[in-house]
Amino acid sequence: MLIEVAKADDIVYGGLVAVKAGDQDLVIGNVDGSFYAVSRNCSHMFASLEAGTLQGYILTCPLHHMQYDIRNGMALSGPVANTGTPIINLDSMNLMSFEVVLEGGNIMIDM
Ligand code: FES
Repeated sequence: MLIEVAKADDIVYGGLVAVKAGDQDLVIGNVDGSFYAVSRNCSHMFASLEAGTLQGYILTCPLHHMQYDIRNGMALSGPVANTGTPIINLDSMNLMSFEVVLEGGNIMIDM
């Protein structure tokens, strides 16, 4: 089922916007005009990722700078600050990824 969550024109290149699709909180990123959606909260300590940065496909958490590939939610590197127990299994920190469909300037999420 497709759920409309945003207008493409409302998310600038390199921009991140928080949206809700059903009961899921997501962040949408614009990578050179292509849109990607992952779960909104960092898998480390749940920071809101729309407050982070997007450089190319790399989404960086605003709190301890954990990095993800926004195309698929894959965790690329762990937190850099001294935040307790080091993360041994980075794969366990991946974000959920959602299919984005662009229709007539509307960003839709396939749920
Ligand atoms: S909350 Fe995102 S890296 Fe710590």
